[in-house]
Amino acid sequence: MLAGEYGEVLERNFRLLVRLGDIYGADRMIPVGSVQVAGVSYKSIGDPGLEFLEDLADKGARVRVPTTLNPPGMDLEDWKQLGFPEDFAEKQLRIIAAFRKMGVMMTATCTPYLVGNLPRFREHLAWSESSAVSFANSVIGARTNREGGPSALASALCGVTPNYGLHLNENRQPTIVVDVKVELRHEADFGALGYHVGKTIEKGVPYFKGIKHADVDQLKALGAAMAASGAIALYHVEGITPEADLVNVEGLEKLEVDEGELRGAYEKLNTGEEPDIAILGCPHASLREIAKLAEKLEGKRLRKPLWICTARATKRAAEGMGLVDAIERAGGKVVADTCAVVAPIERMGFKCTAVNSGKAASYLPGFCKQAVVFRSIDEILGMMA
Ligand code: F3S
Repeated sequence: MLAGEYGEVLERNFRLLVRLGDIYGADRMIPVGSVQVAGVSYKSIGDPGLEFLEDLADKGARVRVPTTLNPPGMDLEDWKQLGFPEDFAEKQLRIIAAFRKMGVMMTATCTPYLVGNLPRFREHLAWSESSAVSFANSVIGARTNREGGPSALASALCGVTPNYGLHLNENRQPTIVVDVKVELRHEADFGALGYHVGKTIEKGVPYFKGIKHADVDQLKALGAAMAASGAIALYHVEGITPEADLVNVEGLEKLEVDEGELRGAYEKLNTGEEPDIAILGCPHASLREIAKLAEKLEGKRLRKPLWICTARATKRAAEGMGLVDAIERAGGKVVADTCAVVAPIERMGFKCTAVNSGKAASYLPGFCKQAVVFRSIDEILGMMA
């Protein structure tokens, strides 16, 4: 590929991977089991990104390993009914068409591991969405650096990634012990904890002690928040995540988190009071989360809009179970493909958004000019009903 025998597109992309490997001291290229590409929303990549992707697709670029797609800036089927701007939609659909032409799977989600791209323990990947990278590394024990959009795409086309960073055992060792001395009640608490730890340590590999129970949805909330407020792409939780027993924590620095720190995180993230809309599902909601919400909404009537963002495949399953109907009866919407942060919600008249996600709460002020109400699902539903 590097010698140009497979054409100019592969030569250029392989060169990019070689350069990246040289910068980080990689000894060789390693094959990847799958790729997850970010930089899909027209809002994030604009016209230069769109033109770059169309050019690549027109030149015959095709992925050679299973490659899934991050959320675009709108629901790809119901964008009109939801009020997404036409000019935005036209460009967004062209981006999607370019990815489709390259053979990328149209998953359109930040939770590919819930809808068909589930890696195995120790599988090497080139994923780019930060919450998915954190989940793959920490909860599954697969191995990926946090790739940029272009390097992930280059890996999808070439099938390899440079061997450095979190692909190597030595870089998966914890760098700090986080002693959690407060009970975590729901996803919002996990998000607040993640926000606080990411902000405090900024980088490295935290090893959590004191978390007695965490389900998959809570772990995805924790990792997403930590990857948003800091550059944390891997964490371990004693007794819960797969590599926690295989690493050494002796002599490490310690960070204690108690009730006061958790409250402090809520205070920092809450910048608004009266939400215009509530958007849940960051990272994209699992089927279990949608089922729980449908149950909570039973017999309620919402006064304000509520979106639950999820992957289209998850929405289809929820439809089959009658959950989407139940949520719509209460006045909520299950929105597929997109999310609060990559959708142009600031152009849709919303100024204050309620979320239960530490990641969304950290990004919404900057990316979407929103004031934020960051609470648990029960508190949010109470404010919207
Ligand atoms: Fe996913 Fe959007 Fe949150 S991409 S992790 S739902 S900001």
